[in-house]
Amino acid sequence: MLGINGAEQGDLSGSVRYPFSDWDSFMIQPLDELINTHQQALEARDPSSRFCVLNTVDKNGYPASRVLTVRSIEQTGITLYVDQHSPKVLQLQSNPKFELLFFWPTLMKQYRVRGKFQIMKNPDQATEWINKPYAGRLVDLYHSVGRKQSSSVDSLKTVQSELAALAAQYPDQQLTEIPDGLVTLLVKPTHIGAWINMQEDRIHDRREYSLMDGSWQEQVLVP
Ligand SMILES: Cc1cc2nc3c(=O)[nH]c(=O)nc-3n(C[C@H](O)[C@H](O)[C@H](O)COP(=O)(O)O)c2cc1C
Repeated sequence: MLGINGAEQGDLSGSVRYPFSDWDSFMIQPLDELINTHQQALEARDPSSRFCVLNTVDKNGYPASRVLTVRSIEQTGITLYVDQHSPKVLQLQSNPKFELLFFWPTLMKQYRVRGKFQIMKNPDQATEWINKPYAGRLVDLYHSVGRKQSSSVDSLKTVQSELAALAAQYPDQQLTEIPDGLVTLLVKPTHIGAWINMQEDRIHDRREYSLMDGSWQEQVLVP
C-alpha cells in the first residue's frame, strides 16, 4: 500500500518509520486506556495525576474552567467531590454541556472527556470526609451553613472571623458529619479524545472515541 509521496507504508523514510509499530493496537477500549494511564500517572507520581480541569458553560455562554481533585477513575465513572450550591454545579444543572481535561506530563498524554453526569450523595465520600484535615472540613461546613462557595464577600477577614466562630461552635471531635452541600459528581464518559505523544517524531496520535449503542467508535484525527 502506498503512503505519503508514494513511499511504501512501513518503509524507512530517513530515521522515522511509518506506521509506528503500535499504531493500530493501542486503544480499543478508551475507558480502560484512561483508567490504566491514570494509574500509571499516579505510580509515576505525576503532580497532575490527582487533578483535572472541569469546563462548564456559564449563564452568559462563556466557558468556565476550574481545577478539581480526581477521586477515582473507574469503569463506573470519574468521581469528583463538589459543593452542590457552587457555580459549577448550578452551571451543569442549567446547561449539561461540559468537558473534563486531563494532562499527565510525565507520560505526555492528554485526554478530553465529555459525557453524562450524576450529582449524588455517596456513602464513601462521607466516610473519607472524616479523615480530611480539620481546617478543610470547617471550610466545607462554612459553605453549607455560612456563605456559599464563590459568593462575594467584603473581605477575607470577614471569612476568617466567621470561620473562627464556626470553629468555636464545632471543635475537631464534633465535626464528624459530612455537610449537606457536599456531593459527588460522577461523570460517565461518552466521548474521549486522546492526544498521545509518540516521541519518535513530533507526530502525535490523535483519536476520538464516541460511545454508540454500548460500543466505542474510533476516529483517527490528523495530529
Ligand atoms: C489543586 C486544586 C484542587 C481543587 N480541588 C477541588 C475539588 O476537589 N472540589 C472543588 O469543588 N473544588 C476544588 N478546587 C477549587 C476549584 O478550582 C474552584 O475554585 C471551586 O470549586 C469553585 O469553583 P466554582 O465557583 O466554579 O464552582 C480545587 C482547586 C485546586 C487549585
